[in-house]
Amino acid sequence: MSESRSDRFPLGAGVRLADLAVDPYPIFAALRAAEPVTWVPEIQRWFLTRRDDILAVLRDPDLFTTDAPSTIRDMFGVHMMTTEGPAQIRYRRKCLPPFHASRLKTASLPPLVAEVERLVTELRSDNRRTGEVRTTVARPVALHSVLSVLGIPLSETERVSEWYEHFARALANFAGDPDLRAAGKGAADAFGRALEPMLTELERDPDGTLLSDLVCDHVDPLTAEEIRSNALIILFGGIETTESMIANAVWALLSHPEQLETVRSSGEALDLAIEETLRWEPAVQSAARHATRDTEVRGVPIARGEVVHCMLGAANRDPSHFENPDSFDVTRQNAGDHLSFAVGRHFCLGAPLARLETRVVIETLWAHCPGLRLDPDRPTAPYGYEFRKPATLWVEWKV
Ligand code: HEM
Repeated sequence: MSESRSDRFPLGAGVRLADLAVDPYPIFAALRAAEPVTWVPEIQRWFLTRRDDILAVLRDPDLFTTDAPSTIRDMFGVHMMTTEGPAQIRYRRKCLPPFHASRLKTASLPPLVAEVERLVTELRSDNRRTGEVRTTVARPVALHSVLSVLGIPLSETERVSEWYEHFARALANFAGDPDLRAAGKGAADAFGRALEPMLTELERDPDGTLLSDLVCDHVDPLTAEEIRSNALIILFGGIETTESMIANAVWALLSHPEQLETVRSSGEALDLAIEETLRWEPAVQSAARHATRDTEVRGVPIARGEVVHCMLGAANRDPSHFENPDSFDVTRQNAGDHLSFAVGRHFCLGAPLARLETRVVIETLWAHCPGLRLDPDRPTAPYGYEFRKPATLWVEWKV
C-alpha cells in the first residue's frame, strides 16, 4: 500500500524528519503548493500543510480524535489531551481557573517576575558580559511557573527535571523501544507516588494552587488517578514547550535587530511581536489526530485509524492567510492568527501563562542587559521536527 502511496505522493515520500529538523519551512512550502495532503512513509502518517485543512480537522473531534492509543496516553493515562467529549470538557473545566488572566495576574505574575529577576541577575553576576539563556533562564522559568501553578513544592524541581527527561524520551519513542517505555512509565509511577502525600497535605491545608483546588473539590471531584494524569499532562505540556517558546522568541527578536528596535520604542508592540515569534517559529510543530472512520481530506482518502499530522508551522506560513509569510514582521497585524497553540477543544490550556512568561523574560532581559544581542561567536538556530528550539542561546550585553 505504501508503495502506491509513494507513487501518488512523491513529495511526501521524500520527506525526511532529519531535514524537517533543520529547516521545515521550504519543505512545507513545497507540500502546501503541490501535495497539501500527503503520505510520509518514514513515519507512516499523513501530513496536512494548508491552514484551512488543518482548521477543519482540528475543529472536528468526532472525525479526527485524540481519543486513541498513543505514547502520551500510554505514559500518562487518560487526561484532557487524550480524550474527547464530556470527559475532556470536565477535565479541562476543572483545570482551567489558574490559567485565567485575572488569576495569572494576582497569583502567578509576582513570583514569576521575582524568579526571572533572580535568574537574570545570576546570569549577569561576576560582571559577566555573555551568557546562555535557554538553560539558565528559559528552562528554569518554565519549570518554576508550572510547578507553582500546580502547587508542587519547588524543592521537587530536580526530581521533576529527571522524570521529565524520561517522559520526553518515552513520548518520542515511536520505534517502541521497551527500555525507553519502561523508564518513562517508571517516572510516571514515581510522580504518582510523590503526589499522594502532597495531595493529602493540600487537602489538610489548602493553598489555592491547582492541585489544592482539585483535591478540595467536592462537586463531581476528579479521582486521584484523574488528578495524576491531568497533572502529568500539564507538567509535561508546560516545560519544554515554554522553554522553547521563550528561547525562540528571544532568538527571533535578536536575529532581527531593526525589528527589535521597533518593538523597544513601543511597549504596546511587544505582545504583537511575541505572536509573530509564535507564528514564525513555533515550539510545537504538529498536532496529531486519529481518523475515527474512513474519510477524505481535500479528496484524498484517509482510512479509519490512520494518523493525520496537522503541521502547525506550515499553517502559520500559509500565503493564503499571511502576506509574505516567510518574513518576520513584528508589526504584522494578523500574527495572532497563528495555530501554534492549536485550535478547537484542545487549544493549549497553558497559552496565557506561556505568553506571560515570555513577556516577563524579554522585558527583564532588556531592563538588565543593555545592548543585548546574539553572541556572534556562538551562532545558533532552532532545531527539531516536533519540538523546535535552539540547542543553546548565547547572548552578550554591555557591562
Ligand atoms: C505553561 C505552559 C503550558 C502548559 C501548562 C500547557 C498545557 C497544555 C495542555 C494541558 C494541553 C491539552 C489541552 C486539552 O487537550 O484540552 C495543551 C495543548 C497544546 N499545547 Fe500547551 N501548554 C503550555 C505551553 C505551550 C506552548 C509554549 C506551546 C507552543 C508554543 C504549546 C502548544 C500546545 C499545542 C499545539 C497543544 C494542542 C495539542 C493538540 O491539540 O494535539 N503549549 N497544552
